[in-house]
Formats: sequence, C-alpha cells, structure tokens
Amino acid sequence: MCGIIGGVGKLDYRDYLLTGLKKLDYRGYDSAGLAYRKDGKVILKKVAGRVDDLSRAVAPFSGGEVGIAHTRWATHGVPNQANAHPHFSMRRDFYIVHNGVIENYRSLKNLLKDHGYIFHTDTDTEVIADLLEDNYRQKKDVLASISETMGVLRGSFACAIICKDDSNLYFMKKASPLLIGLGKGANYLASDALPMVDYTDKFIDLEDGEYGVLTPAEAKIYIAGKAIAPVVTSRDTARYDYDLDGYPTFMLKEIEESPDVIHCLGDNYFDGEKYLFDQKLIRALRDADEVVFLACGTSYYASLLGVEFMKRLGKRSEAYIGSEWAYYPTLPSKKTVFVLVSQSGETADLILCQKFLLDKGLPTLAITNTKGSTIERKATYSLLLYAGLEVAVAATKSYMAQVVLLALLANAVGGRTSAVAGLDSLIRSLRDIVLRKEGIHAIAKRIFVSRDAFYVGRGHDFAAALECSLKLKEISYIHAEAYPGGELKHGPIALIEKDTPVIGFVSDPLTALALRNNLTELSSRGATVLIVSSEALREEGDSFSYPDVPSLLAVLPEVMFGQYLSYYAALEKKLPIDKPRNLAKSVTVE
Ligand code: G6P
Repeated sequence: MCGIIGGVGKLDYRDYLLTGLKKLDYRGYDSAGLAYRKDGKVILKKVAGRVDDLSRAVAPFSGGEVGIAHTRWATHGVPNQANAHPHFSMRRDFYIVHNGVIENYRSLKNLLKDHGYIFHTDTDTEVIADLLEDNYRQKKDVLASISETMGVLRGSFACAIICKDDSNLYFMKKASPLLIGLGKGANYLASDALPMVDYTDKFIDLEDGEYGVLTPAEAKIYIAGKAIAPVVTSRDTARYDYDLDGYPTFMLKEIEESPDVIHCLGDNYFDGEKYLFDQKLIRALRDADEVVFLACGTSYYASLLGVEFMKRLGKRSEAYIGSEWAYYPTLPSKKTVFVLVSQSGETADLILCQKFLLDKGLPTLAITNTKGSTIERKATYSLLLYAGLEVAVAATKSYMAQVVLLALLANAVGGRTSAVAGLDSLIRSLRDIVLRKEGIHAIAKRIFVSRDAFYVGRGHDFAAALECSLKLKEISYIHAEAYPGGELKHGPIALIEKDTPVIGFVSDPLTALALRNNLTELSSRGATVLIVSSEALREEGDSFSYPDVPSLLAVLPEVMFGQYLSYYAALEKKLPIDKPRNLAKSVTVE
C-alpha cells in the first residue's frame, strides 16, 4: 500500500510534506520518511514510527527546491528505520519513494550485485533506486534511465524520484495510483488528491506506463519514449473535508455522519418523482440474466445485500470476494453485469478483477466513493456514494452508503419508488441510535475484556453479523465470528464458555423465533447473550432495540450498533481507533 507525496517549486516543504503525509497515512503507518533537496544537497530523514514521530524528528527548515515523502505499510522487510522510505541508490544519485510491489526484485538484486551494488535494506524498492543509478551512469539522462528501469520491473509501482544532479521531480507509474496536481509556481504529486487540495483543484490522473518530470512551471509526461498531452481535470476540493469537527476520532465522526450521507444519497439519485440513474445502466441491469458483485472487506459484506436486492427482483445474483474471483473467475454469460463495489476505488485485488473483465470486453458498474479512482475511471458505468471523505481505517458511513445505493438501484431496476419512503424511516432510526449510543457504550464495557465474541443472525441479519464481527476484529482486536443462527450447533457451539458474548440480531419475523431459540441454547451453556432487535420484534430482556425500518434495510441499524460496539470496546481498551495495527484503509497491493 503506502502513501507517496512529492512537490517541486516554491513551497513550504516541511509543511506540505508532513501535513500531506498525515492525510495519506490511511494507506499505511508502519514507518515514515522524507527527503528534500536544498542548495544542491539532498537531506533525508526517516523514522520507524508514524508521521507524528517524523514531524518531531524533522527540525524546522525553510527553502528547498524539490521534496518527496512516504508513509509505509510494510510488504518486504520489517518496519524499521532502514526499510523506511525514501530509499537511495548506492552512490546516492537517486532518492525514491515507492508504492507497490516489485515482483522480480530478487533476480534484479542479483543482477545489480553482479554490477557491484551493495544493499542496505530488505525492501523490494531499493532495487529501483539502484537500477535508476546504474542506467543513469551509462545514459546520463534521467528520463531515459526511468524508461529503461520501467522496462525491467515486474509488478506495481508509483514512484516519486529525486536525482541529486537537478531540482526536478521525476515520477513513474504502473498499477498503483498516482496523480499530479498543477499549481502556480509549484507542482505536486501524490497517491491521491487529498494532500494537494489545499494547493490546487487541477489534476492529471496518470495511467499505467506513464512517467515524466515536474518542474515548477510544467508537467511533461511520456509513455514508451513518446511525449503525451495530459488530460487536466478539475475536482471539487470541498469534498475533501479532513477536519474532526470537535469529534475525538474520525471513526466516531463518520459513524454519526451516516444519516446525512443517506439523505444526500437519496437527493443525488431521486428527484422526488423519479430515479436519476443513467437509463442505459438501468436497461443493462434489466436485461442482465445475472448480476455479479465483486468486492473486498466491508464492501463485500455490503455486496451481500446487493445480492438480496437483486434476488428479490427475480435476478440470479452472487457476490464474490475480489481476491478469490481474480484467480478463480466464474465464466460469465454475455448478459452478466459485474458490479465492482469499493469505497476507495483503488483496491488492488478488485483492479485485477476489472482487468480480467475489460480484457473480455464485459461491462462493469463501479460503485465507489472516489471520483477519478482507477476502478471508477475504467468502468463502463459509475455510481458515486457521495459519502464524503472517510478517514478512519474502519469503513462505516461508506458501508451505509453502499447498501442504500444498492437498494435504490434495485428499486429503479424494479420500477418502484418505495425505498425512498423507506429512507426517511431509516434515517430516523439511525438518528435515534446516535442519541442512545451510551446504551451501546454500557454493553461495550461488559464485553471489552473478552477474548472471543460471536455475532449471530439469520438471512439479512446474518449479513449484518458478518460486517459487525469484522469491525470487532479490526478495531477492538477481539476475535469475533459471525454465524447463521442454525449453524452454531454444528460445531462452533463447542467454543461457548461461561460469559462468552454472543450478540444476536432479530429483525426478520420469519426467523425471529428460531433465532431466539438458537440464542437460548447458547445462554444455557453460559454465554452472555445480548439481543439487538427491531422495535416490532422486541421482547423483554433484549439489550438494545431500534425504531423499525423496512425489511432488508434493518442491516443498517444493526451495523450501526456493531460499529458503536467495536468503537467503544476499543475506547475502553485504549486502542488507536482510527489506525488499528497492521491495517490500511486502501489496500493497493495484492
Ligand atoms: C481494507 C480496509 C477495509 C475495506 C477493504 C476494501 O481492508 O481496511 O475497511 O473494507 O479494504 O476496501 P474498498 O476501498 O475496496 O472498499
């Protein structure tokens, strides 16, 4: 994964690089570093810590000609100072920051060793710096050296590069995101627009195989030795709101933004009388004999609802985990529509799926929160979530937006408008939970010391259970499993001990009784059973209830309950809620 950033020209480098890096640390936060060139010398600083540690380590400075910085999610080599980026070539001709994985780095390392190179890190990145230097020593031309180097690299890379001999900012890109920001008297690049939006609203999205050079005055882009005319696009910079607005964490803020996000989504896709979806998309979905959802993590769990919505329209529908489907694709019929669901639009496993589909000429619909992201740009149809920036690693409001958008879309395909009426009650229900969140905090205080926990549901309540158990693992570091109610007695019940927390979701009249019976079986074996029910199905002794919402949308209050529960459990355990260990928000490596 990793986040990279660079700038050239008239800039406060310390502020731009460190503030920008902080905004990119959702991409990884194992270690951080920066390098800048000033008065012809390159100064390097890296730490085996987070961006805040780097900020403390970098003394104030002014001036500078060009700078690069990096926040790392370790793939090759432990997160120590030596393995932190920027990396430099043996003779320090080049300094680079890299996001991606060089698959053939071992063979390249051996080749470079034959050329006399000595390695100081365990990373795959170091070979890029040395290859650049090796080529540069022969060619005496940085761009030609980059082109030559790209020719031998296998895998993925977005790199920002400084050469000791000039004050330009060089770059190259393949299969990892990179975009350029065009300023006045300065130019920028980064893994996403967020660190650049305070400086510009004009961007160039780089495509695979492109490389080039930024000077303070211009951007020159090449592909295979030929200059290309870049496409400059404007972005609405207001969308990149990075303020906590008084909240202690982004996760809490983002959970509580969900009702507004849903409201906004309704406004974007329904004008009071009719749905505003592209009619070609609606026709394609109506004509489809199957709708296949591909996604990872939380987006996959949201897709499970997409499947249910489609099935209710009488369509065949399946959801697959992107990293699995990429290697074991089901052979689709010509009338299958593939829906790629991804908050970031940059998840590498899903990009692999999309490549496969593009090669086969099959239509894709991208559902993302990120306009201009790789998946969004390459899809046949695109729907945005309008959820606003999601900073916390845990996906919260984006899950809500995904499920609601899938519901609206299914309604439009089915020619109905009922979900829109349902949205008002959904928003009311979620607002009600926000007001009563201390009740969930009290439950978290009872369970946060547990090593294991279970979420149980049936039907769509099981889909909610899956997402909630993921949240409990990610944020609270509690080992959690989700099971359909009837399945527990076929094995997992052996794990139930005295006081094991089991959270049961009850929102479906069809299975409410059966599920309550399953939960009784567990409490008889000592489990602490906590039932979360819709008001219509509430019974005495239930731990939490929420105002009723239509049918499948019950997953949203249930998941909001689960988001709060993991949030408060993590709070009680004093864990780093927005940046849990080992994770990253945007997983841009396979
Ligand atoms: C990472 C994040 C998850 C997210 C998943 C898929 O694992 O930590 O929160 O659900 O990626 O991300 P996407 O951007 O494709 O929705």
